[in-house]
Amino acid sequence: MNFHILTLFPDMVMDGLNTSITGRAVNNGLLSIEAVNIRDYAFNKHQSVDDYPYGGGAGMLMQAEPVYLAYEAVAEKLGKRPRVVYLSPQGQTFNQQMAEELAQEEELVLLCGHYEGIDERVLEEIVTDYVSIGDYVLTGGELPAMVMVDAISRLVPGVLHNDVSAEFESFQDNLLEYPQYSRPEEWHGKKVPEVLLSGHHANIEKWRREQSVLRTKERRPDLLEKCELTPSEKKLLEE
Ligand code: ADE
Repeated sequence: MNFHILTLFPDMVMDGLNTSITGRAVNNGLLSIEAVNIRDYAFNKHQSVDDYPYGGGAGMLMQAEPVYLAYEAVAEKLGKRPRVVYLSPQGQTFNQQMAEELAQEEELVLLCGHYEGIDERVLEEIVTDYVSIGDYVLTGGELPAMVMVDAISRLVPGVLHNDVSAEFESFQDNLLEYPQYSRPEEWHGKKVPEVLLSGHHANIEKWRREQSVLRTKERRPDLLEKCELTPSEKKLLEE
């Protein structure tokens, strides 16, 4: 999968994403992450990319033309017009289901706004999806774009090495993940639950599923409404 991030701060996104699991996936050729500097498409001699909003108001707006030219350069290079996600608090809230859907794309453009936003006309022309990462306002779209690249990348086959781990994480089935333990068997007087030492796989699976259900009830009861529970799991919640 190939990400194209249109931004005024290419170093910010590339420094963050070239490390750890996404960085390894890039090195292994499973992903490519390109930052396109919108300033390279400034069309005046001062290389400015922002201007005052018509009608007045605080701050500056990113102008339409540099954003448009940056996208057109990507589209021309690819010979197609990929989906464009504009990161904005006005978008739909990002979630695991959206990550799964977007992970099916071969090419994805992420457009990062700054200042007070971007001239509406270019958004109308190129944006296909408006996405927010939560109900708070950040100074720009770079961190949200990095969040999306991270969440989508780990769903691309091979990126996690062990494809099973992507499946069993929190939010699959709308349940939170069960608690996990590693060595030593006892730490600060707390013991690892006996069942996990038993080697009995069916019992372990059952315990984990129950813990997921209970933990979801305790920490994210809103998720339980969206999740399909067996009659015995429903009973567990009533206890
Ligand atoms: N840009 C500024 N705030 C944002 C948010 N919460 N989500 C996505 N993009 C943003």
